[in-house]
Amino acid sequence: MDNYVRIFDTTLRDGEQSPGATMTSAEKLEVARTLAKLGVDIIEAGFPAASPDDLEAVRRIAIEVGAPGAAGAQGSAQRPPIICGLARASKTDIHKAWEAVKHAARPRIHTFLATSEIHMRHKLKMDREQVLERVIEMVSYARSLCEDVEFSPEDAGRSDPQFLHLVLGEAIKAGATTLNIPDTVGYTTPDEFGALVAGIIQNTPGIENCIVSVHCHDDLGLATANTLAGIQAGARQAEVTVNGIGERAGNTSLEEVVMALNTRRPVFNLITGIDTTQIMRASRLVSNYTGIVVQPNKAIVGANAFAHEAGIHQDGMLKHQQTYEIMRPEAVGVTQTRLVLGKHSGRHALKVRLNELGYALSEADLDKAFERFKLLADKKKTITDADLEALVADEFYQPREVFTLDGLQVACGTMGMPTATVRLRGPDGATHTQASIGTGPVDAAYKAIDSIVHAPNTLLEFSVHAVTEGIDALGEVTVRIESKNGHRLSFDTQTETERTRTFGGHGADTDIIVASAKAYLAALNKLLVATRPNGQAEEPAFITHSQTARS
Ligand code: KIV
Ligand code: ZN
Repeated sequence: MDNYVRIFDTTLRDGEQSPGATMTSAEKLEVARTLAKLGVDIIEAGFPAASPDDLEAVRRIAIEVGAPGAAGAQGSAQRPPIICGLARASKTDIHKAWEAVKHAARPRIHTFLATSEIHMRHKLKMDREQVLERVIEMVSYARSLCEDVEFSPEDAGRSDPQFLHLVLGEAIKAGATTLNIPDTVGYTTPDEFGALVAGIIQNTPGIENCIVSVHCHDDLGLATANTLAGIQAGARQAEVTVNGIGERAGNTSLEEVVMALNTRRPVFNLITGIDTTQIMRASRLVSNYTGIVVQPNKAIVGANAFAHEAGIHQDGMLKHQQTYEIMRPEAVGVTQTRLVLGKHSGRHALKVRLNELGYALSEADLDKAFERFKLLADKKKTITDADLEALVADEFYQPREVFTLDGLQVACGTMGMPTATVRLRGPDGATHTQASIGTGPVDAAYKAIDSIVHAPNTLLEFSVHAVTEGIDALGEVTVRIESKNGHRLSFDTQTETERTRTFGGHGADTDIIVASAKAYLAALNKLLVATRPNGQAEEPAFITHSQTARS
């Protein structure tokens, strides 16, 4: 058994399927590029049968990230990552997955069918023989198209082990090259899951020529522990997502598995191809694009993961760093601000610092970033790395814009009605101005935006956090909205039903009302792009009542 654990990232499939995590095609491509830079071995780029857009997004990733010569994994001789597409056990799905991934230098088809009694009886309405027959037929079909085929017996964690051995043995004979063992509902304990994987390795004929993989969900908070138990039992592929996003309580988090293997190498004696210094960047990118905030105490990537607050801890840290730190923050890309930039810093200093933080901006983008930097430096004395990252995220990691914020003014306080006047630039280039009152300045601003954009929605989540300490800190706002028009745009692979998608948005500014408006517009823009053909917003009906000026 080799000592290399393949990292299979499913942020763009299982992760993107989770509420609010919807990403545009351009964002998915950027995430895929970041994953390749991080050094993941396999990118599960999506579920091509879900919609023509999903197929196209996977196809673009196969071409632009998975092609020979595309920026590949750092550790694996610059080979591009394997690009994988998920398919239910149906010829139509498998064909679509192949159409999407075939452009990659190393394509993979991943097909699945449930094997637990509860799923077979109630969801599939199939008996064991029918399931076995379908697995053989569909794995053979996938293999006739693609050399690299992964098969998952869904809900393996609650399946009868003997039946699993039989199904997996037949999947191998039919051509599967990777066998993935999912704990779909996050039900097992580490001992149980480790024993399940060990039993599969011991009792499945032909498994010695395949890679065994593990895929755990976090319903009981055991996903990382179960994944590590599966690896210790012999699995050599771990299916994970950045920040652990995914169905319900999420999937196993990439950063936790990688850093556990890394930090406790003497225990596991295993390696991965991940460039751990890219972890923090990938985490921020995924959080900004999905609008799913990382909890402050989240292992490895939470804001407090390397903060030492208690006096006794700080004292210990000053005496010796290892008293309270089991890994160096720099090892996961948490940089200590070495160079504080300010009002008098030039474009070159900004370029150098952004490069050090891993952002290689074009000259035109650098100009834009410098302009934003100067505006910020006028308001804030010192600009830290965290400020720069928030600024870059706000300026460049935004969905394709339909409406942009052109101006905002609010009046609020204890003396009257909170009022906001908002000026937006629309898709037609015209500016639209509306004023509204609300329960507070954010509510007033959102109502004014609503009366311009006309995209009825429910605000599901609104959160604000300060990027750095101090009264002049940048505020970051994240929102999540759901369309009220009942657009059922997301396909849930587990319940095999369509469901309403939710959209996340992110904004940063020293003025939190401005940051709130930007975040709301980012989410609205995603909603508009996803629900209207060609991403064109409908011409607002009120147009004659508002001040409209073409620039
Ligand atoms: O959790 C699960 O079972 C899945 C499969 C499609 C592998 O995501
Ligand atoms: Zn899953």
